[in-house]
Amino acid sequence: MRGLDVYPRLVSPRMPEGYEPAAERLSTGVRGLDEMLDGGLWRGTTTLLAGPSGGGKTTIGLQFAFEGSLRDEPTLYMSFQENPTQLRRTIRGLGFDVAELERRGLDLVYASPVELQIDSIIVDLFRRIEQRGVRRLVLDAVGDLASAATDPQRLHDYLYALVQHLAVRTITSVLNFETTSNTIEHSGMQNAMSYLSDNVLLLTLDGEDRTRRKLRVLKTRGSAHDTRVREVEIGPGGLSVLR
Ligand SMILES: Nc1ncnc2c1ncn2[C@@H]1O[C@H](COP(=O)(O)OP(=O)(O)O)[C@@H](O)[C@H]1O
Ligand SMILES: [Mg+2]
Repeated sequence: MRGLDVYPRLVSPRMPEGYEPAAERLSTGVRGLDEMLDGGLWRGTTTLLAGPSGGGKTTIGLQFAFEGSLRDEPTLYMSFQENPTQLRRTIRGLGFDVAELERRGLDLVYASPVELQIDSIIVDLFRRIEQRGVRRLVLDAVGDLASAATDPQRLHDYLYALVQHLAVRTITSVLNFETTSNTIEHSGMQNAMSYLSDNVLLLTLDGEDRTRRKLRVLKTRGSAHDTRVREVEIGPGGLSVLR
């Protein structure tokens, strides 16, 4: 018989005195995106990557993770949708060497938001962050955590505390968020998530004759950014921004 597991509730960390965000830009690993971000993402920031199903969130999230691994930064990719077998297949399809990436510190993890409570998912996340000294994190996708949380307020509190913890540890994160349309809703969880995030990117899908993928930067805290809507394509090597 299994005993009772007790998980501490995540609370916001105390910001150390003189806390300063790291003044260093990191490459996203996505061709053309760093230029849109005025040179990359500031280390220690949280980026919300929103868009509809099939928009390219998982692809960009994986590229961001690969970039970290290739620079020998311990990287954690936690999926709530695809198990490691499915993820490995996707990674191979993009032309990357999974074994090499894993050898260089990429940790691919699947957590089922249907079977697990949010407390246990968060405890597992922080255990991995501490054990491996994680510097880059991707959560794919945070909206899936709704089914692991008992109510929306609780989920919001968790995500708020999580973002603060990542900032204190200067972990650079990409939080994917699946939207039901080509916009970010100005209410509910999407709105709360964009408010919490330093940077917000939005992928969209449209086109009559063929699917056109587009990417825009909606916000970058403390930095200029490209205000144009840019067409992107997914192919070997991943997603890239077209000229
Ligand atoms: N190696 C590849 N070559 C071309 N297109 C790909 C490749 N891998 C994935 N895609 C395309 O990317 C799209 C899925 O993107 P994905 O990142 O999974 O979207 P999301 O996570 O936003 O739902 C699919 O339409 C798929 O066909
Ligand atoms: Mg996806």
